[in-house]
Amino acid sequence: MNASKKLESESSQGIPILLEIIQKYLDHQILLPTYKNDTYTKHYLMEIIRYKNKIQFILNKTLRSMKIDKTQRIIHENLLFYAVYAFFWEKKSWDKIKNESFPLSLKKDQIHLFKQFYERLSNFKWEYALKGKTKIEKLSIQDAIPTFFIQKLLPVMNLNEIQSNSEKMDVQARIGNFTIRLQSEDELIDFENKFRHLNFIKDEDIPKTIHIPLKHKAKIIASKFYQENKFIIQDKSSIASVYLMNPQENEKICDLCAAPGMKTRLIAQISKNRANIVAVDFNLTRLKQIRPMMQKIPSENYHLIHGDGIHPPIREIDGVQFDKILLDAPCTGSGTFSTHPELKWRQNLKFLNQNVFLQEKLIERAYYILKPGGILLYSTCSFYPEEGELHINKILDKFEIEKLPSWISPCYKINNSSLLGAGRFFPTIHNTNGFFIAKLKKKSNNYIY
Ligand SMILES: C[S@@+](CC[C@H](N)C(=O)[O-])C[C@H]1O[C@@H](n2cnc3c(N)ncnc32)[C@H](O)[C@@H]1O
Repeated sequence: MNASKKLESESSQGIPILLEIIQKYLDHQILLPTYKNDTYTKHYLMEIIRYKNKIQFILNKTLRSMKIDKTQRIIHENLLFYAVYAFFWEKKSWDKIKNESFPLSLKKDQIHLFKQFYERLSNFKWEYALKGKTKIEKLSIQDAIPTFFIQKLLPVMNLNEIQSNSEKMDVQARIGNFTIRLQSEDELIDFENKFRHLNFIKDEDIPKTIHIPLKHKAKIIASKFYQENKFIIQDKSSIASVYLMNPQENEKICDLCAAPGMKTRLIAQISKNRANIVAVDFNLTRLKQIRPMMQKIPSENYHLIHGDGIHPPIREIDGVQFDKILLDAPCTGSGTFSTHPELKWRQNLKFLNQNVFLQEKLIERAYYILKPGGILLYSTCSFYPEEGELHINKILDKFEIEKLPSWISPCYKINNSSLLGAGRFFPTIHNTNGFFIAKLKKKSNNYIY
């Protein structure tokens, strides 16, 4: 069954579940929506959340045009949300919607009002609805971008850049390609021979890395290469952070925020399983995902530690300081709206500040557990300078910055100057997540925080 047929056939069973989850999400009963594992619920839920503010805006304007205020609403908001999405994004007819929604056993007056609402949606006109709104408000509503995100980025990007990067992040087929990394040169040759017809592109910057048109993803995943763990699918920015760290055999490497272990696995692979890896994470459920991932390589040269990276219980593990540390820090995820649309609506100053505080503490700890001359690779999947450049600017007395290759974009200028050892990935330039990366070399052991 093809994907759209599958969606169609799942739809009538999926509606009640979908509406229930949407309502819980709207009532803030759940932060991160979970769904039964069917394609239909997942697809609609993610899309409705992706466009939440835009849907809410259309919904409010339409109810207002019907002179219905919040207190008079007799139809649940979840159904109205679904209706707006179905009308504007799916172009569904009233008959279709009506049939889908009947399992909800609406009362007669509710059906009447719902029909009126649905028909009114065709009167919605952007030019009237947006009258009097500022440029930022318009961009936020029409492109479903959080206003906080726009305001935070205005000092470092213009509105067009903000819009085009967000737009590219928003399309699920964002990269038009997906990126895989083969485990060895031999496998690369095998892969090329077998899949030459798929028009893949070899990455020019990172060895054994290939970009494949998204439409071939199912075929690639079904192949024996995937079944036999011959490659991993990963954003190029993430592959780059480990590649630039250049893990070598016998090095002691700490992955300080490791779960679910995508980069831990790459550290093991690039060092040919000969680096001694310590992988720490605060979240036990996520930490438990690392072992099965490492078993796929397979690798045994690693220790998993469940603990706080700010006070990692690692003193007892053979020796004191590490040669290299990967700090892929917890962050706002403002560079990952394509795969995590729910994060859009969590962007605010409190959330940013919590992350910045945690990142600062983790950087401080990384300094203590790193050897003098050792390398710290710091990264976040965020667009905000607060989670990138501003941290690095503050620690230049403790670290030297290592030059990054020119295929990584320069980072934002802070006080009119660029940091050479820090760079950025942008969806519009690199077809990746929004990502910050800095490679730093520890100066000495003498600094006391
Ligand atoms: C960006 S994710 C890491 C992704 C991982 N490097 C990978 O490539 O699969 C950040 C991780 O930091 C963890 N984390 C958050 N606070 C932490 C802390 N205080 N100490 C250690 N880990 C923490 C989260 O549980 C999350 O798994």
